[in-house]
Amino acid sequence: MEVQKVLYMNRGDGEASYAKNSSIQREVIEVSRSVMKEALLDLYHAVGFPGKLTVADLGCSSGPNTLTVVADVVDTVRESCRQLCRSTPEFQLFLNDLPGNDFNSVFRSLEGFYKERERGREIRRCFIAGVPGSFYGRLFPSRSIHFFHSSTSLHWLSQVLSIIDTICLVMLTVHPAELIVPLKLQQHEDPLNKGSIYISERSPSVVVHAYSTQFRKDFSDFLKCRSEEMVVGGRMVLTIVGRRALDPTRDESHFHWYIIGQLLMDMAEEGYIEEEKVDSFNLPYYAPSASELESEIQSDQGSFSLKRLEIFEVPWEACQSHGEDDHGEPQHGCSLVQKMTIGQSMSNCLRAVLESMLASHFGGDILQDLFSRYSKVLEDRLSREKLTVPNIVMSLVRKP
Ligand SMILES: C[S@@+](CC[C@H](N)C(=O)[O-])C[C@H]1O[C@@H](n2cnc3c(N)ncnc32)[C@H](O)[C@@H]1O
Repeated sequence: MEVQKVLYMNRGDGEASYAKNSSIQREVIEVSRSVMKEALLDLYHAVGFPGKLTVADLGCSSGPNTLTVVADVVDTVRESCRQLCRSTPEFQLFLNDLPGNDFNSVFRSLEGFYKERERGREIRRCFIAGVPGSFYGRLFPSRSIHFFHSSTSLHWLSQVLSIIDTICLVMLTVHPAELIVPLKLQQHEDPLNKGSIYISERSPSVVVHAYSTQFRKDFSDFLKCRSEEMVVGGRMVLTIVGRRALDPTRDESHFHWYIIGQLLMDMAEEGYIEEEKVDSFNLPYYAPSASELESEIQSDQGSFSLKRLEIFEVPWEACQSHGEDDHGEPQHGCSLVQKMTIGQSMSNCLRAVLESMLASHFGGDILQDLFSRYSKVLEDRLSREKLTVPNIVMSLVRKP
C-alpha cells in the first residue's frame, strides 16, 4: 500500500465526509487547547515578540477542524498583544497534509476565515498557504518556523513493512538465523497477522516488532525534520492517539480495528472478498505508549526538550456531538431531525477516515455492507460499555 497516495480523509462536505464526521477529533483539539495556548504564549515571549510569526499545522485535513487551530493561534496571540499593549504580528500560517487531502475545500473556506479575522482592519495580518507533502520529510526551509502543531495525525505511519522486510528486520535485530525458515513457511501456509488489520492479541511478536520499529523510524524522521525547520526556542505541540498498556497486544482501546478485521473475515467466508486480501491488509497505524514517545524524543540527538506530556481519554460518544460552523449550521453527523445512534456515529467517523484505504485495497463495493455491519456491532458493544480513546499531548521546545 502506498500510504501517501491512498490515505486521505473523505472529501467534500456530504454526509460521509470527514468535514461532517470529525467531532471526535474536534474534541481532542478542544481538550488539548490549553497546552497549545500555553506553548504559543511561552514561545511568543521567548523569541522576543517578533513582528512576524510563522506557524504550521501538520495533518490539517479538511472541514471545520482545519481552520480551528489557526484561528486559535491568531486569537491567542492577538489577545496577549492587546493585554500587553503591543501591536499584533503578521501571521504566516501553513496548512500541511498529504497531496490527496481536499485542499480545494480548505481554500474555499478561507474567505470566511479572512472575513472573520481581518474584520475592520485596514491592513491584512494573516496569510494562509497550503503545503502538500509528507510530514515525515522536509516541508519548510531551515530555521523558518516558530510554532508547529499537529493533532490526531502522527499515529499514521509512512508505510507498513511488508512481511519479507519484517523477516529481514527480525534477522538483523532480534533473532538468530534459524528463525528464517519457520517464518518463511509461516508466510506461505499461514500469514503472520492472519485475520487482523492491526496488532491484536493474536499477533505474533514479529508483527508487533515491525509496527513499533516503523513507528520509531517515522517519529524520529519527523523530529529530525522539524528540528531543522524550527527556529531556536521554537515550540511544538503534538497530540497523538496513544495507548496506556505497555504491551500493544493487550491494548483494549483499539477494539474497533479488531472488529473490522473480524467483519472482513466474515465477509471473506461469505464469499464477498478474498481471504488473502484480508490477510494482506495491514493498517498503517500505530498507537504508541508515553514511554515510547519519551525515549524517541530523548534519543533524537537531544534537539527537543519535553516540557509537558499528558494522557487524556476522549469518550467515543464525542462522535455524536453536533457543533455549529461559522454560519450557525450544524456541522457534524446527520441532520438534527434524525439523530444517529452511537454505533452509527462511530461507524461514520471511522468510515470517513478509513474509506480511502479500504476502497483502494478491497474496492468500493463492500463498504456499505461492511460499515452497516460495523455500526451494529459497535452499537451492541457501546450499549454495554463506556469506551474511550486515549490521547497523548506533548509540548516540546527546540533546544539551542
Ligand atoms: C484524523 S485526520 C486529523 C485532521 C485534523 N488535524 C483534525 O484534528 O481534524 C489525520 C490527518 O493526517 C494526515 N496525514 C497522515 N499522514 C500524514 C503525513 N505523513 N503527512 C502529512 N499528513 C498526514 C491525513 O491525511 C489526515 O488528513
